[in-house]
Amino acid sequence: MPESRCLQGIWSSPWIFIFAASGSAVGLGNIWKFPYVLGENGGGAFLVVYCLCLLLVGLPVLIAEVALGRTVRSNPIDTVNDLSERRIVHPAWVLVPWLAGITGFLILTFYSVIAGWSIAYLDRAITGGFDNITQVGASSMFNELLATPSEMLLWHSVFMVLVVLTVGQSVTRGLSAVVRILLPVLVVTLLLLACYSMMIGNMSEALNFMFRWSWQNITFDVVLAAVGLALFSLSVGMGAMFAYGAYMSKRMSIARACSIVVGVDLLVALLAGLVIFPLVFSFDIDVQAGSSLTFVSLPIIFGNLLGGQFFAGVFFLLLVVAALTSAISMLELFVAWLHEKFYIARLKAALLMGMAVWFVGIAVLLSLNHWDSKLMFGLNLFELLDKFTSLILLPVGAILLSVLVAWFIPRPMLQNEMITKQANHFQWWYKTLKYISIPAMIVITLAGWIGV
Ligand code: PHE
Repeated sequence: MPESRCLQGIWSSPWIFIFAASGSAVGLGNIWKFPYVLGENGGGAFLVVYCLCLLLVGLPVLIAEVALGRTVRSNPIDTVNDLSERRIVHPAWVLVPWLAGITGFLILTFYSVIAGWSIAYLDRAITGGFDNITQVGASSMFNELLATPSEMLLWHSVFMVLVVLTVGQSVTRGLSAVVRILLPVLVVTLLLLACYSMMIGNMSEALNFMFRWSWQNITFDVVLAAVGLALFSLSVGMGAMFAYGAYMSKRMSIARACSIVVGVDLLVALLAGLVIFPLVFSFDIDVQAGSSLTFVSLPIIFGNLLGGQFFAGVFFLLLVVAALTSAISMLELFVAWLHEKFYIARLKAALLMGMAVWFVGIAVLLSLNHWDSKLMFGLNLFELLDKFTSLILLPVGAILLSVLVAWFIPRPMLQNEMITKQANHFQWWYKTLKYISIPAMIVITLAGWIGV
């Protein structure tokens, strides 16, 4: 398929795909979600399982999405329609890209609320709100934010406006310039903060918690949490990487590019863990605190750090931009589809989708205060969406997408994409996807649901 076929344009250099895909992967998943899921699931052993999931499930599925995207150079919905018209796949497969799009939409409804917390913390950072803050002060600051829907609504709205304006432009332009600066600065900032946190916090217990393995607590529940987190963190299972693959130049080896993205994603998550856990242990914060963990421990570090106000400002600004570069990939599937199928201008399509997300987001943020009723399994709407997307929708989406690629897409079509002049990674990827990733995801997901 010629590169000119792609209506949304092509990344202007092969490397830009790596930056854009890393921009999508690195976000709140690494800094907000990874530490709290690690905390809830017992630390070291979870980390080992998580790394295995990244390697044996996340990477092969990521390659599958990107390879299919680059093969067809269109949005996932039209692609599957086209394949079914050519009688390559059954028309029912079109449900898969729809499911993927809906998953991205649902993730964005609560992702935007958390990104809103990050903007609220950026505001507090700039105005010196963390100065000499204690652990009790940090907890009550966070609880106060959750109890003030008007403030959360403001920041949720600001974030959604940013998302709409950014997705409304072509993602193949501009995005890479932002990510190219963002990623190195984020890594260096996290590195500095990790060193400082280990100096003032309880380093030995944090390292012990994060890196010592004990197998007793590993159940299918825990493994499912690791699979869900790996998919969430790499942005796979919901078509985002499919879209980015569609804009990728043929000159880049897909396997190599995807391996770099996985490496960057893991590095940022580990650094976030090294920033947060030394504080968690020295200030006696509950490791199982869940989604508040990051937002309670970070102000403590900034409040006690020389020049903390500056560091806090830089850090939360980076976090907001990282969340933005992830959020735009969640809307890209529907925006590209509306643009390609109905010729709706990108900005209009983004506005339509953004308003729908914004609206549901209001219910999500109210579920943290006024409407805090347990809807199902003792979870409120916010928690339900977080768990439902990670533990059900993303794994199911990833399984279906992988089955589609591994069993139904003609092999030569994929082989063409994977074999470049420099490398042939096709065989190992194809076999791993078919015989390891897919069976593993099916067994883990089913066993996790049944609660083995
Ligand atoms: N990977 C992103 C993060 O870690 C979240 C995301 C999930 C982005 C799904 C796109 C699709 O924050």
